[in-house]
Amino acid sequence: MPKPAYHILVCTNQRPPGHPRGSCGENAAAALLEKFGMGIEEKMLFGKAIVSTSSCLGPCSMGPVVIVYPDGVWYNRVKPADVNEILEQHIARGKKVERLEIPDAVWG
Ligand code: FES
Repeated sequence: MPKPAYHILVCTNQRPPGHPRGSCGENAAAALLEKFGMGIEEKMLFGKAIVSTSSCLGPCSMGPVVIVYPDGVWYNRVKPADVNEILEQHIARGKKVERLEIPDAVWG
């Protein structure tokens, strides 16, 4: 297996219902992780990208949060319906999906 060019991290951290910080797990992050895995397989992106689960990445209220390395692009409120666009545009063509990127203002 070749070394993947991209590593996709999907936060699947789950907090109890009603927790003040919320969590990506409460917003269907598990389905998102599965969709990325299936998408990599369907689009024959083995060797190009690998997907892993992650614990909390920080901006919980903007979840599900996804990071694509080595580009260091952070995506927010990612839905399963967005996965194909990330795989086809960012992973396959190297162009980030700007509409899903976490705004710089979040980082203070
Ligand atoms: S729970 Fe996902 S970023 Fe905190």
